[in-house]
Amino acid sequence: MSHASADDYRPGLEGVIASETAIANIEGADGAGGLEYRGYRIEDLAGHVSYEQTAFLLLHGELPNRQQLREFDARLRQARPIPEALVELYQRIPKSIHPMDVLRSSVSVLAHFDPDANAAPTDHAANVRKAERMIAQMATAVAARRRISQGLPLVAPRADLDHAANFLYMVHDKVPSEAMRAAFDLSLVLYTEHELNASTFAARVTVSTLSDIYSGIVSAIGTLKGPLHGGANEEAWKVLERVGSPENAEKWIQDALARKQRIMGFGHRVYKTGDPRATILKTHCRALAQEVGDDRWERIAEPIEQAVTSQKMLPPNVDWPSARLYHYMGLEIELYTPIFALARVAGWAAHVIEQLDHNRLMRPRARYIGPPHRPVKPIDQR
Ligand code: ACO
Repeated sequence: MSHASADDYRPGLEGVIASETAIANIEGADGAGGLEYRGYRIEDLAGHVSYEQTAFLLLHGELPNRQQLREFDARLRQARPIPEALVELYQRIPKSIHPMDVLRSSVSVLAHFDPDANAAPTDHAANVRKAERMIAQMATAVAARRRISQGLPLVAPRADLDHAANFLYMVHDKVPSEAMRAAFDLSLVLYTEHELNASTFAARVTVSTLSDIYSGIVSAIGTLKGPLHGGANEEAWKVLERVGSPENAEKWIQDALARKQRIMGFGHRVYKTGDPRATILKTHCRALAQEVGDDRWERIAEPIEQAVTSQKMLPPNVDWPSARLYHYMGLEIELYTPIFALARVAGWAAHVIEQLDHNRLMRPRARYIGPPHRPVKPIDQR
């Protein structure tokens, strides 16, 4: 085995190739930094195929034909209800606990009720079944916890609605308009997968010890929560709220940049010239702002986007427009990162399965920078 030298250390593993994957490519076919899921450009998927089709593509390797989609969809719809024990837990967890923390616990609880709970961690077919159940149940779990923490009656999933419409229905007790459903579905497709981001890496490291898929997804949820990763969509909304009015935007952003403040929703470790997901979502933000008859947030966002892009060379990432998109759908800020998670679970699961199918324990090295070798002094001489 060859050893990397201490000089190879890259803080944050920046640019380090830590896995092979056939799931997502963020170099793009032309090397220009695009995003592809299993060879399909994101621009050709978003708005053209549903979240269900995208999840099937990630888990099963190909886009489904009609019959495969019908069967997959039926399995998801059937798996939507969550165990009563989880609902009872939601009633006991303090209302103030953040939904991402509750979601992390929820997936642990769901693991215990999975019919394949005792399958071997490397059982490919059982892992795909578990992944499908998680996709279905995480959406129900997020909506159920939300309703309970607001003191509202639970809304049971509806088998006649697709994944996107059913989630919005369970949150609001109201079937969404077609424009809202389509925009939410598209946002889920854009959030579904993104190569070896921090949460996916965490999931792969976890299962590389031959731990189980649920443990991998729990690790991923904990990792996604941070504001430098998925938590950025909540922080992006707080920026817009802090600015408050279009008239205030230019001054606010110039002051923030002068203070060297980190503007959440901008910049990306890999995309340096622009995040293709943000470009797609921006168009939908404008359309939904029109539908709800309030373009204030678009008018606040635009000068901020212009300033950060031109002065810092940091274009918006997916979390910048998604915060506005979810606001137009009447979704509370605390749901933004859980929504990211319930979309991304398909990508996480695909990576976990890929890791377990070709496993090698992930065990990197650290460069030691502590004190040199020294003797242990008896306690009275220290
Ligand atoms: N606002 C202002 N300045 C920024 C921002 C930002 N959003 N992002 C980076 N910078 C600056 C840094 O301050 C630093 O400046 P300096 O060299 O003068 O110190 C320089 O750009 C490089 O920053 P790094 O943090 O080293 O760049 P990195 O590639 O590691 O950053 C990251 C990637 C963490 C996403 C960063 O851009 C950031 O913190 N963005 C805000 C959080 C965010 O939106 N996260 C979501 C990412 S996408 C996702 O998870 C779906």
